Amino acid sequence: MAVMDDRENTPVNPRALSGAEAIGDVVARRLSRRGFLGGVTALSGLALTACAGRPGTGAAQAGPSAPGQAPAFDFPELARGMDQTHHVAEGYRAEVLLRWGDPLFADSPTFDPANQSAEAQSRQFGYNNDFIGFVPLEPDATGAERGLLCINHEYTNTTLMFPNVAAGYPASVTRDICLTEMAAHGGTIIEIRKGADGWRPVAGAPLNRRITADTPMQITGPASGHDRLKTPDDPSGTLVLGTMNNCAGGITPWGTYLLSEENINGNFLGDLPANHPEAGNYKRMGIPGESYQWGRHIDRFNLARAPNEPNRFGWIVEVDPLDPLSLPKKRTALGRYKHEGAETVLAPDGRVVIYSGDDQRFDYVYKFVSAGRYDPGNRAANADLLDSGTLYVARFDADGSVTWMPLVQGQGPLSPANGFHSQADVVIEARRAGDLLGATPMDRPEDIEPDPKTGRVWVMLTNNDMRQSGQVDAANPRAANRFGHIIEITEPDGDFASKASRWDILVRCGDPSVAEVGATWNPLTSENGWLGSPDNCALDAQGRLWVATDGNENTGAADGLWALETEGERRGTGRHFFSCPTGAEMCGPRFTPSGDALFLAVQHPGDGDDANYEAPATRWPDFDDAMPPRPSVMVITRIEGGPVGG
Ligand code: FEO
Ligand code: CA
Ligand code: CA
Ligand code: CA
Repeated sequence: MAVMDDRENTPVNPRALSGAEAIGDVVARRLSRRGFLGGVTALSGLALTACAGRPGTGAAQAGPSAPGQAPAFDFPELARGMDQTHHVAEGYRAEVLLRWGDPLFADSPTFDPANQSAEAQSRQFGYNNDFIGFVPLEPDATGAERGLLCINHEYTNTTLMFPNVAAGYPASVTRDICLTEMAAHGGTIIEIRKGADGWRPVAGAPLNRRITADTPMQITGPASGHDRLKTPDDPSGTLVLGTMNNCAGGITPWGTYLLSEENINGNFLGDLPANHPEAGNYKRMGIPGESYQWGRHIDRFNLARAPNEPNRFGWIVEVDPLDPLSLPKKRTALGRYKHEGAETVLAPDGRVVIYSGDDQRFDYVYKFVSAGRYDPGNRAANADLLDSGTLYVARFDADGSVTWMPLVQGQGPLSPANGFHSQADVVIEARRAGDLLGATPMDRPEDIEPDPKTGRVWVMLTNNDMRQSGQVDAANPRAANRFGHIIEITEPDGDFASKASRWDILVRCGDPSVAEVGATWNPLTSENGWLGSPDNCALDAQGRLWVATDGNENTGAADGLWALETEGERRGTGRHFFSCPTGAEMCGPRFTPSGDALFLAVQHPGDGDDANYEAPATRWPDFDDAMPPRPSVMVITRIEGGPVGG
């Protein structure tokens, strides 16, 4: 999420204010430990410069080639740039698959942006698509490939979505608008089918489902039924209406869909009653964030009227896409914070491991390890695996070690003396538990992708412009880090449940031709191959890494998708594949199991400082004066067929 990110109302973690280390020492140690970037260690770690010049021709071109190692990707690189539409590498087809407002059901009304309603929106594709999951289904009677796309709708942008609101904002925001926004959050599950003309959505398919900020769901795990989750609407503390702010998520091995709840603080406004016990908890989460007007019209989003409601958001939600009548479950064992990413991987002993970032400046990286083991032969036996297990928070040390510290009530500082009377208290205040354990404050952890084939885990750290020179550490080595970096965690012997791992930095992002940026790309990276602000990421069928950006616009070019080499002498070489229309960030990269199709989410196209419904920065993808820009999912295929990326 770009616009309403936590750039305001940011509670700075006090731990981040200590622990200064000379950046030169850190770099020297890291480089000597592991010949970083192959043969380039003789260069300054702070100012590696790409070999390529900057002719600025704008023409598509292949990146420079290494003499020994063939590139892992064979597409001709896209030029950097930014305009009103999207671009994909030559030889590829990019089609709009689903747009905000598209019908999902037989009775879905036609999208009419001038006359929106919650009722219509809850039957249509939601706003600001982010995470994309793919759950394969059996081929249909004709043999056509089928699958379910599971898509998160992260946030709503009131003045860009609704006519006649911008001029009088916020007084112009009516209750109906708030209800429509609530219906535009959450997730969509929709069948897609591959026919002669490619992948297409199947409106009206039996498993299609919309999940919104009003969908009833169950609260499970250690915080279920706790007093801190009880509200006037739900004295049981076990049932909640809706999920919201759903950023990068995950798909489990048993085919369930995990929606993360990220910037939930912005949905609340109002004042807590005096001396309320949640005051410290909410301050640490930035509540109330007051990004939305919902609390003016809907009691439960107003702290004065429902002071415990914010404790019911900030979780990971599990949905069974094969049962459209099932109650989604908020799995509180995985902790409450601003979740981004919830991809699952199995430890060698069958336990389930889920990595997740807490996307805020100076917040943490977590992983959850289930108590039980995945049973591949009995889907039902896995239904509640995510209710029992251990949540860990990461400490990254300068010697290249990662220590995963358990968030378990009664251990160490997580004691009644510190306000942790039960495991419910620990998961509700996972951030404060991490503070007390000495977790490493990171440069905004976003999506995290484990690779089951190699035991490596890719962590996107998008940026942190507030880190000061006295706050740099080995894993966050740049002050005023505007362009982010990517960390590689290696789990020993592929044991994702390990409590002791290793880490390294794959790339420091930003323009390698500007020494002050301190970027570290492989010099084989072309003038188009570097990126800024990594956010979402995915592995393709061959295990190759792809990185999407949110904030690359501050490098002067559009957000988009880059392929990124991770092996051998080309390790750390980027290659530009797709660029977004102006105003948009790139989300949701997801490949089909064969790797022949790639789904991309174009989020908040047309946004910008002065943009609104009447004057968007682009009207992508329809380019119709009566139509606002529409966040959309695209499907990318190779024109000649075969794997995306070569
Ligand atoms: Fe929703 Fe962390 O971006
Ligand atoms: Ca982001
Ligand atoms: Ca994100
Ligand atoms: Ca991902």
